[in-house]
Amino acid sequence: MSVASVDLTQNDSVKSVDSDDNIDFSKLLDKPRHLNIERQRSLDEKSLVEASPRHPLIAENGRHMDFENVFSPSKRSSFNSCNAQYGLEPHLMFVEAWEALRKTMVYFRGQPVGTIAALDNSDEKLNYDQVFVRDFVPSALAFLMNGEPEIVKNFILKTLRLQSWEKKIDRFQLGEGVMPASFKVLHDPVRNTDTIMADFGESAIGRVAPVDSGFWWIILLRAYTKSTGDTSLAEMPDCQKGMRLILALCLSEGFDTFPTLLCADGCSMIDRRMGVYGYPIEIQALFFMALRCALVLLKQDDQGKELTDRIVKRLHALSFHMRSYFWLDLKQLNDIYRYKTEEYSHTAVNKFNVMPDSLPEWVFDFMPTYGGYFLGNVGPSNMDFRWFCLGNCIAILSSLATPEQSTAIMDLIESRWEELVGDMPVKVCYPAIEGHDWRIITGCDPKNTRWSYHNGGSWPVLLWLLTAACIKVGRPQIARRAIEVAELRLAKDGWPEYYDGKSGRYIGKQARKHQTWSVAGYLVAKMMLEDPSHLGMISLEEDKQMKPTIKRSSSWSF
Ligand code: GLC
Repeated sequence: MSVASVDLTQNDSVKSVDSDDNIDFSKLLDKPRHLNIERQRSLDEKSLVEASPRHPLIAENGRHMDFENVFSPSKRSSFNSCNAQYGLEPHLMFVEAWEALRKTMVYFRGQPVGTIAALDNSDEKLNYDQVFVRDFVPSALAFLMNGEPEIVKNFILKTLRLQSWEKKIDRFQLGEGVMPASFKVLHDPVRNTDTIMADFGESAIGRVAPVDSGFWWIILLRAYTKSTGDTSLAEMPDCQKGMRLILALCLSEGFDTFPTLLCADGCSMIDRRMGVYGYPIEIQALFFMALRCALVLLKQDDQGKELTDRIVKRLHALSFHMRSYFWLDLKQLNDIYRYKTEEYSHTAVNKFNVMPDSLPEWVFDFMPTYGGYFLGNVGPSNMDFRWFCLGNCIAILSSLATPEQSTAIMDLIESRWEELVGDMPVKVCYPAIEGHDWRIITGCDPKNTRWSYHNGGSWPVLLWLLTAACIKVGRPQIARRAIEVAELRLAKDGWPEYYDGKSGRYIGKQARKHQTWSVAGYLVAKMMLEDPSHLGMISLEEDKQMKPTIKRSSSWSF
């Protein structure tokens, strides 16, 4: 049940004809909720059918799946825990996963407020006994899909309270809008009280900044609103303020010459030094998605309107920049290979002065004839050619990628299946860095040795993102294949955090077992594949207004 469209913008320039986010919020408020459900269903059906070059509801054998069966809303509400929903034979692993997820729930004064990162019994817990904002996202989606929004609402409100804390590292005060990386509920059995401890990066290993937390928070707020039809949470003055504070952090003017967001290393899922400082794709894609979600959720009062204008401008610049300069396919690769350097002025083709000699050997073999992807990072004389899963999937889900680019990303995943999926979906990035590069780039990090952890490790949590992206592009069969690969081992191995090795054959050397987002990621992937209408809560349709109008030199391939 979802209110599809909560467009508060009233701004014609941001409205797209086919976007399902363009209904006037205020008009929906006095309508009975079931009308919204019906409307959402038809929009989901429409967008899924029309937006997909390959129809998601046509099975691989070409037969149509039962439409009624897939979209019955009554099934959604009658879903009880793990068996009733789809009328399918309950899969043991699915049942086990739900049981495991429930065990990770964290309570604050009797209310569920999140899930801990891992139910790991080893001595070396580090901070895996905390609720991480990014880790909670797949848990939240699973609960929303299962008709249990309460925990998600509590989480949103709890983290909002934490945002207003005074945040300091030594004597340095952090920005007001910073959301925590994680928090922990401390229970005092004697006084029977609960207190909360939060980490904004001041305790984190390496003191890394959780830039992604605020973005995920906004994305989750939209997912909650869309899934439940409850617009009152997002409309709360505190939530509106929380959003404005997050946006103030990333829309502030400075010395930047690019619309992308400049970040320090370790600011997202890859929360250690891994050469992802600068303009990492993961953050740029989440930034884009959060801006689009905020556009839908912001109230059009004076403050909201002013922010809306800034968001719209930034989205145009950001989408142009990303689609033009971060995109790599065979033609673009060939153009870079032949780049001239040291070009001055506006006529420069090689705008960032990238040296063709910096092209790594592997990329020539990796690039398929059909296919492409968003680069890991683009800055002055810097192109990180590594492929990153999360950023590319979010680019598809947020429609930062054009439909052609989304299809190309899927083509690449299919062509490079062994490298990117192999024995366990999905590689967090490809390829690994080794030898001298590893020493310089990671600072000799023994956890991030080649093909391990963030350095080319395989992370089951990414399965939900891959599945959502596949459904959006109309190629659910790719997700189905990946899920089947995961099902061979994931439960048997005790839901590890990550796998090591070139094809992900080994349980990660320091991986936690019973890692919650591995469990939740699997559940979300399964539920989404069974009922693709769930996709709406985490996907945004293309906004035609954002199509690039200027063609870039000869290398622009769309
Ligand atoms: C590791 C991961 C990070 C995750 C945390 C908790 O630090 O790199 O992305 O949020 O574990 O699971």
